[in-house]
Parts: sequence; C-alpha cells; structure tokens
Amino acid sequence: MHTAASIRSQFPILKRKINNNPLAYLDNAATTQKPQSVVKAITDFYTQYNANVHRGMHALSEQASTAYEDGRERIARFFGATPEEFIFTRGTSDSINIVARMLEPRLKPNDEILATQMEHHSNLVPWQQLVKRTGAVLKILPITDEGRWDMDALERILSGNTKIVAVNHCSNVLGTINPVAAMVRAAHQAGALVVVDGAQSSAHLPLNLRSLDVDFYAVSSHKMYGPTGMGGFYGKHEILELLEPVSFGGDMIRSVEAFDATWNDLPWKFEPGTPHIAGAIGWAAAVDWMQSVGWDTLEAQERELTQYALDTLKQVPGITIHGPNTAVNRLGVISMTMDGVHPHDIATLLDREGVAVRSGTHCAMPLMTRLGIPATARASFACYNIKKEVDQLAKALQTAWKMFHPTVTVQVPAKNLWQR
Ligand code: ALA
Repeated sequence: MHTAASIRSQFPILKRKINNNPLAYLDNAATTQKPQSVVKAITDFYTQYNANVHRGMHALSEQASTAYEDGRERIARFFGATPEEFIFTRGTSDSINIVARMLEPRLKPNDEILATQMEHHSNLVPWQQLVKRTGAVLKILPITDEGRWDMDALERILSGNTKIVAVNHCSNVLGTINPVAAMVRAAHQAGALVVVDGAQSSAHLPLNLRSLDVDFYAVSSHKMYGPTGMGGFYGKHEILELLEPVSFGGDMIRSVEAFDATWNDLPWKFEPGTPHIAGAIGWAAAVDWMQSVGWDTLEAQERELTQYALDTLKQVPGITIHGPNTAVNRLGVISMTMDGVHPHDIATLLDREGVAVRSGTHCAMPLMTRLGIPATARASFACYNIKKEVDQLAKALQTAWKMFHPTVTVQVPAKNLWQR
C-alpha cells in the first residue's frame, strides 16, 4: 500500500528548501522529478556495464544490449504495444517531427491536416512546415469556452480530404483530457491517420494504444519520472512497415553497397546511430516504478488533489482558472491568471515562498490568442504532490495579490491559507 509519504520518500529532491520554505514542486507538466530507482538504474549502467549496444561480442556490450532491448519491451508493454512498434527518439517533439517527415511522401497538394486550437507548438509547427513543403492544407479545430474540443465543428471540418489528424491527448495548459477514442473513430471513418501528442497523458492515464486504435502516439520519458533527452513513438506495425526511414546511418541498415542500402527490421529501421542507452534503461526503471505504485493509486491521488486545488484556488482573490472547472476528464494542470498581475510576477513571488510553477505561453501561443490572454501561471501535479503544497500555493498567491493590491481587503477561508 503506497501512501503519499511513502511515495515522497523515494524522491530525495522533495526534501529541499527553497528560500527557507519547503519546496512545493508544482511544475510537473514541464518535467517530473525522478525516483531513486531511476537514478540507480542509470548509475548502475554507467558504473557496471557501460558499452555500446548491438555492436560488440564482449560481455559489457551484450549486457548493455540486453538491458536496452529489455527496457524497450517493458516500455512498449506499458503502453499496450509490442517492441517492434515502439521507436525510441529524443522525446515527444522529436517523435512528431519524425512522423511528419515519414508521412510527407504520402501527401498531395490540397490534402488536409487537422490540428486543434489547443496544440503545443510541437504538434503544430511540424505540420505547418509539412504543408509548406507539400501544398497540403492545415485546418484548425476550435475549442469551446470550457476548453474542450468543439465536436460540432469537427463534423464540418473533417472530410474525405483529411489525411492526418494531429491532436494532443491532454492539454499542457488547460489540463483537458480529450476524447481521443471518439476522434480516432471519426478520423478513421474519414480515411485519415491519427497522430497523438501524448506528452501530458503518459504519466497520468493508463494507456492501451492498440485498443485506442491510434496510428501514432508520441511520448517523453522525462514527463513520466524518467530521464530527459529520451522518448519515443508508437506506430501501428502495418503502417511502420510501409513507411520509409527519414534519418540514416549505422544500426538502421541491413546491408550497404557503394550506391544503395536496405533497411533493418522494425523498430531499428527508424533508429540510426548510437541510441540513448542510459535513457532507455532509466525510462524502463521509471515505468517499473509507476507499475509498482499502480494506476489505482496514481489516478486516485491526482484526481483528489486536482479537485481540492480547483476548489481551493477558486477562492483566492483575483484568480481566474482557465480550462474545465471540475476534475472530470481533467488532469491536475491548472493555468491561472490574476487580475492586474503578470504571470511572470506571480511565478517569481511564488518562488520566494518555495513554490515552483511555470509561467508564460507554455509553447501554446494560438491557445493564448483563443483565451485572449498573453500568458498564464501554471501549477501542475504529479503523484507525489499533497494538499499541503496546494495550501502553500494558495497562501503564496494570496501574498502576491496583497502585494499588488495593498488597499483591498479580501476574506479567504483560513484553512486554505495557513493549514500545513
Ligand atoms: N511541454 C512542456 C510544458 O508544457 C515543456 O511545460
């Protein structure tokens, strides 16, 4: 049985003090902290069996290759996929760029790509560039005022011309959990492939990518308790078999002659060069760690905290919360604006109180335009966050409000301000 305390004890960094306050790390949508087991797996690799993979007959190389491919197997299974369908990359952005290049030869002028108003730039700019290169057309699905996909508009926009639907599973600004299964059904009916940006979902929702029936799904290790610089994408086996690689070099070939080459089997066909071996091993340890905690605990913990935070933060004077106002179909990603205070000032003042949040456009400028705001301050939770930290955030926001509005007196329930 995992309690908040037993989970937290595995993350040494959470014991830090920042500006003489306990650290409340609420920037998990940017990157999560790493449990000791992940740090140990990476250290063990570098101190015990560091060697290149797939290349040597010596003991260390064999051990490294086994750990690397065994890691891929555990990560792929975690997502309900097979290892052949799971390509390692540097992360979600890298994955989407690669998938866009892989699909490029299949696009003709006037084919359509559909993205949404809530995409991270990583799932928008690669498609903007692709339409420039191919003469295809980019269409944007609007969102509702509550911060959800406008499914009525989808009926009007999706057509037989749509070839790719590129959407995020969860918004990194609004926390919305999007109805990806319904989108996949509609897109497939129209004959389009679906590429999903899973950067925000992978640490918070149990996923079975085969049942979800997506064609591609991109993820990052560092958002799910694993190391940075590591990620991957799932692609349906039959589609990956049909597509050509877009990067070339060692390991991705079967044979090379002076003027031509043939490709290796899946998944290596799409993985040229020495990979991030420690990254794969660390990511697999992160997946093991999540499974040891269990989805029941991971999900329940975060859902309860998200509802508590929405209820608590709503009471802070001058605060507007953007996105769905209950924890239903919503992650613990809470973007806020405060009347008369710039989000960067909020983040700076929160930091003084030991609270780490992100401020800015969150790489989602078209969404800021839709919301009619320049930026937000964003708190985002992971499974190790606790109510005390939400209270610390609310208290720090109250201090910020008072600093910018010294003559205004506002009553805020004491329990949200001072209870630790
Ligand atoms: N995409 C990450 C975020 O939303 C970096 O913060």
